This record gives sequence, C-alpha cells and structure tokens, in this order.
Amino acid sequence: TKTLRPLIAGNWKMNGLRKDLDEIAAIRDGGVKVGGAVEIVVCPPFTLLAAAASLCEGSGIGIGGQDCHPEKKGAFTGDIAPPMLKDCGATYVILGHSERRLIHGESDALIRDKIKGVQAAGLAAILCVGETAEQRSTGQALAVVGEQLAGSIPRDVSIEGLVIAYEPVWAIGTGLTPTAEDIAEMHGFIRAKLEESWPGKAATVRLLYGGSVKPSNAAKLLAIANVDGALIGGASLIAADFLAIAAAC
Ligand code: G3P
Repeated sequence: TKTLRPLIAGNWKMNGLRKDLDEIAAIRDGGVKVGGAVEIVVCPPFTLLAAAASLCEGSGIGIGGQDCHPEKKGAFTGDIAPPMLKDCGATYVILGHSERRLIHGESDALIRDKIKGVQAAGLAAILCVGETAEQRSTGQALAVVGEQLAGSIPRDVSIEGLVIAYEPVWAIGTGLTPTAEDIAEMHGFIRAKLEESWPGKAATVRLLYGGSVKPSNAAKLLAIANVDGALIGGASLIAADFLAIAAAC
C-alpha cells in the first residue's frame, strides 16, 4: 500500500513556444478533474515559466524549472537563480537530470550546491539519478546511484519535500524501460539509502520513475513498490497523454 500522494511531473526539456501554452492550459483543465489525488507539475523551458504559472494559478497544477544556478544572483551570464524561478511562480526545480550531467558535465558536488540554493529559495528539488546502459550491464547500477545520492544530497538540510527521480539513462526517450523487478530493487535501495542518513524521514520522500513512461505502461510502472509517481519527458508534451498517465495513478 502506498501512503504518499503521487507526483506526476512533466519535463518539457528544450521544447515549447508560446503557442504551446495551449497545451499547458489543457493540462490545467484536465488536471483539475483528476483532483487532489495526484499532484501534477509541468516544467516548461524558462521562457514559458511565468506565462505557464499565471495560466495555472489557483488550479493546483504546479510549475517547475528544469535547472538553475546555485547562487541567488550575480555575474553568471545566461544563468537563472532559484529566487527568479520562485518569482515566476515556480514551486519545483528539476536538478541533476542526466542531460545536464552528461552534456553540461554537471558533478554531484555542483548539484548538491544547487539543491542548497533551491531549498534556501523555498523551492522543492526533483533530484534525478540513474545509471547508463554500460553501468547496468556491468552490474554497477546500484553503486552508481548510491554514489549520486551520497554526493548530491546536502547532509545539513532536511530531506522533507525533496523528490528523487530514478531515470536510467538508457530508458530516456528510447521506448525501453527496466523490468518491474529492477525498478522495485532500485527504488527500495534508494529508500534504504535515505533511511541510513535520515532515519525516520525516508518514508516522506517521493521516489519517481522516469524514462519512456507512456499512457500504455503507466499503470504497470506506477504500481511498483516504492514508485510514488513519474517524471515524464516526451509524453508530457501532449496534454491527453500526460493526463492519461496522471489518471493511471
Ligand atoms: O525527465 C524525463 C525524461 O528524461 C524522460 O524522458 O521522453 O523518456 O519520457 P522520456
């Protein structure tokens, strides 16, 4: 039995022009019908954040950023600070996505600083972790994720409100998903690791699965033990698909 309110978050990545705000309005209208049983959050690109937040204001549908700088402000050309996200109406921020880790070379230490900055601004972090295909095939998946957790979650902050998304790199945008057994093993492992460092608090942390979640596989994936929601890429761009996944909770 699951006790946490499931979270269905959409990561739009580098997709979305102003005309696509219609899709966010459709997610809002459909999401309101799913009601309070499921928490729905959309993470559009920075350019659409403020408009998306004003569309969703008062609806219960949350808005999040996809990344941010650790500092509050300063001489960091092109970067966005956590208080800026908050000021736009965001309540969540995705951090440490594998596309940031792999393409932009983000380290666990940098991600840890970002989590601190995000928490200081009163936002909730959605921390992404996950192994590559090679790491899984050589039996290192748990060790890699264990290291990411140890390196990227600050020790001196509360983990209440933190969300962790397990996204195996090889499952992102590929149509592939791990077996239910492998997801259950990884999510159980993440829960146990959190419990070691924050006794009594791990049960409050929502653990999302991400990677090729679609309306057709959502019910099966969301039913797995310790899966408290999902982080959706491609399927979150289409309101009907994203809402079908939320309805599968
Ligand atoms: O953050 C979500 C993501 O990486 C998964 O992408 O397209 O496989 O759902 P997708």
